Amino acid sequence: CGIIGILGSHEVSPQLVDALRRLEYRGYDSAGVATVDAAGRLDRRRAVGKLVNLSDRLVHQPLPGHIGIGHTRWATHGAATEVNAHPHQSGRVAVVHNGIIENFRDLRTRLEPLGITPQSQTDTETVALWTAHHLDQGLAPLEAARATLALLHGAFSLAFIFEGEHDLMIAARKGSPLAIGHGTGEMFLGSDAVALAPFTDRITYLEDGDHAVLTRAGVTIYDAAEQQTSRPVSRIDTGSAVIDKGGHRHFMAKEIAEQPVVIGDVLGHYVKGDRIVLPEGLDFAKAERVALVGCGTAHLAGHVAKYWFEQLAGLPVDIDVASEFRYREPPLSPDSWFIAISQSGETADTLAALHYARGKVDRTLGLVNVGTSAIARDADVALPTLAGIEVSVASSKAFTCQLTVLAVLALKAAHDRGRIDDAAFARHLGDLRAIPALLSQALALSDECRAQADWLAQARDVLYLGRGALYPVALEGALKLKELSYIHAEGYASGELKHGPIALIDGDVPVVVLAPHDALFDKTISNMQEVMARHGRILLISDAGGIAAAGEGVTASLTLPSGGGVFQPILYAVPMQYLAYHTAVAKGTDVDQPRNLAKSVTVE
Ligand code: G6P
Repeated sequence: CGIIGILGSHEVSPQLVDALRRLEYRGYDSAGVATVDAAGRLDRRRAVGKLVNLSDRLVHQPLPGHIGIGHTRWATHGAATEVNAHPHQSGRVAVVHNGIIENFRDLRTRLEPLGITPQSQTDTETVALWTAHHLDQGLAPLEAARATLALLHGAFSLAFIFEGEHDLMIAARKGSPLAIGHGTGEMFLGSDAVALAPFTDRITYLEDGDHAVLTRAGVTIYDAAEQQTSRPVSRIDTGSAVIDKGGHRHFMAKEIAEQPVVIGDVLGHYVKGDRIVLPEGLDFAKAERVALVGCGTAHLAGHVAKYWFEQLAGLPVDIDVASEFRYREPPLSPDSWFIAISQSGETADTLAALHYARGKVDRTLGLVNVGTSAIARDADVALPTLAGIEVSVASSKAFTCQLTVLAVLALKAAHDRGRIDDAAFARHLGDLRAIPALLSQALALSDECRAQADWLAQARDVLYLGRGALYPVALEGALKLKELSYIHAEGYASGELKHGPIALIDGDVPVVVLAPHDALFDKTISNMQEVMARHGRILLISDAGGIAAAGEGVTASLTLPSGGGVFQPILYAVPMQYLAYHTAVAKGTDVDQPRNLAKSVTVE
């Protein structure tokens, strides 16, 4: 969920909606705003679905006021209905919230004897109800909010405004990041710096357990012990690129097409001449093991990199989804490194995994696309993935940029650890440098993928098979198809097919086989034959050599350029993206904002 708050000098609801647009990546199930007008009246507007529904409502039912809070929701407790949408209002207070109040059931029960009945199913409403109750008991706004905060368990951020108070906003952070923006005679509050960028470049991040009192004159911050404290003001880069579709029908199509350029940018940033240039002190010779952690597509980027680190650098890698890593209590050696991978840098589980690793390992790295994000700030070293703004919820260019940075790291690790000599290093670097041009050729597969989409769009299930570093790419292909087209899909290691999933094979299940003409080719093709022997229909993706050797009898094939050496998985991402994209277009789903998803999930 995304939070915005503005203590402004003129009508704030248009600005609130504008900022919510920048936070929509955190969820788009519903949205709402609340303001206090000049007469001190507290009121709100909410709407289910995309933000456009809220802005339409505000046209017909404007909301006056120079102070307000706004929210874009990714539903956790309670369906995406207007009653469950934020802001939640009770009596003289309105609240927006990101995160989860874990003890909300208990808090609801304790309201019953007070004769207070919730209207919604949300955890957030209990915060509004308890605060209203505290106000009714005669507490001033700050004391009332504090009394409520003392009741809450979980990881969350909150913003409160109050009837009769048009120069007061209270904010609190426990777990979920919250940034305060300093204006001139205006103050701002946001879940991240991106939301605040149009308003100010001076930001203060609240620390865990802090709460803050904002007025137009400034902010007073208190720590968990309610002692006044100060937190640094930092300048952020507000130069945000123009966000448009650049002539494409969807952001996703544009972002897929940008990959040759942005990957060129990544290589330009990390490779100078024949050298890999990383921040001072990143010498993998000292690393004993690496833990790679992320969620969704970012996790799969790490999964590909496991093969590179282990094969090129002989460096053992543990790969895990952040939500498992953070609670499994994995023992981490002090000589190991931890790498968090996240496009947004705000994903709650990945951030928590980073916090778990901090202090236990020699070094934490954050591979992030958003430089002002929580993971970028909290990691020892932040490595930008330089994909530029990615708008489409399903990741495309951010994935291949993550892969490219990871490829650079693996190559550097191989060199640092003396696993490859200078000649091999130069050869691998040449392979990596060939990727942007090869990607440009791969983009030409779009039309052929569109032709396959008609077939895939009819399917109920689709299987994706790959071996070695292509196995996680198969997982990514299946994930993309699920996300975009809502067709059930599974990725499998080719060799694992016969241990269960082969039971699914019949003439109706398309099987996408990723098989570059490399050392594992014959093995993968044997698995493909096992499918064909059971009347399975194959879409074979390989290079010209592979298609010539094994293309006979398959239903369809796609030919990628050969080249890229061990970094070839980056190329195979392109048909994964285009197959999912065109299938979604064929089915008429919402390509850039698929149902139920958020670009970054800021609750665990
Ligand atoms: C969400 C998105 C995925 C994304 C994942 C991790 O689930 O829908 O596409 O891969 O979050 O996001 P991050 O910003 O941490 O890379």
